[in-house]
Amino acid sequence: MTVMVIERDSAILRAMSRELGAEELASPELRTLLDKMLYTVQDPSQDGVGIAAPQVGISRRIICVQRFDKEGEPFECYANIRIDTLGGELRQGPEGCLSVPGLRGLVTRHSRIGISYADIPSGEPRSETVEGFTAVIFQHECDHLDGILYIDKADSVYTE
Ligand code: NI
Repeated sequence: MTVMVIERDSAILRAMSRELGAEELASPELRTLLDKMLYTVQDPSQDGVGIAAPQVGISRRIICVQRFDKEGEPFECYANIRIDTLGGELRQGPEGCLSVPGLRGLVTRHSRIGISYADIPSGEPRSETVEGFTAVIFQHECDHLDGILYIDKADSVYTE
């Protein structure tokens, strides 16, 4: 899928994404979208650690995150995700974004978060606590769903 970039696609990247209903969560179209998002974020030309649906032009509350905190570091997808709690230490670290090519920035994020989301395809509510670098990826990707880019929050931005 074509990745939306800030200069060209700011309307969709800056929009608030909508939640998915029960039918959408169970639909084969959602599975196809997730497969395409996973293919896109793992493409060697992108080599990302996370992607949000608005980045492929779909204004829905879906993200895929590489779980560096799990065995085998799998990519996993989350629908209707929210961050409920922000905790742990505040840490500054480098971030980049597929939608902001050529730049990186230092961003201060929380090291422990509580998330909740809807299981795919059942729609059942799930929640968990995530720590470390994976928690940073979740914060970055969830911001995309509210039209926020890391460059909005960065302490400094620099060319790659
Ligand atoms: Ni991003």
